[in-house]
Amino acid sequence: MSVTLAFDVYGTLIDTRGVVGLLEGWMGDLAEDFSQCWREKQLEYAFRRALMRHYADFSVCTREALDHTCLRFDQPLTDEQKNELMAFYRKLPVYEDVPEALRALKLEGYRLYAFSNGSRRSVAGLLEHAGIADCFHGIVSVEEQRSFKPDPGVYSYFLREAKVLNHSSWLISGNPFDVIGAISAGMNGA
Ligand code: LAC
Repeated sequence: MSVTLAFDVYGTLIDTRGVVGLLEGWMGDLAEDFSQCWREKQLEYAFRRALMRHYADFSVCTREALDHTCLRFDQPLTDEQKNELMAFYRKLPVYEDVPEALRALKLEGYRLYAFSNGSRRSVAGLLEHAGIADCFHGIVSVEEQRSFKPDPGVYSYFLREAKVLNHSSWLISGNPFDVIGAISAGMNGA
């Protein structure tokens, strides 16, 4: 029986630090820390929304985290600059080693899925832009569950959508909280 691999997207396939170049033009040396804070807040807002059962699209968490980060770093970016960053977020770069690795895994017979906090539409756009959409059997977004990782419900939802059992599927993520969440929910994780 073939093994299913659920790849996380942001921070695993797609590099959220891709915004640093654009930020550098506006705030110089602050860009790296700004980008890190933005990402951490985005995830924190998703955790909090899941706990509060107050779901909103992941892009709302991203935008609210951007507003927070501007205040925190005393960087009053204009609405135009913020919109430019949000647009850039839909075209973030793929990590260099990803396309070749995905193709090799697919050739070996693994069933690959993209499984993300992002909406199906955002994820499809990112994979398309990165030229790796054809590697995947499907996309599973938390949006249908109206919650976020690491809510165990979203990992169960993945298993139902991919029609796989927990012991024959792995969550692959560059985000430790995601790996821990998947294992806690009964999947394998790496
Ligand atoms: C995702 C988050 C964890 O892509 O970044 O699901």
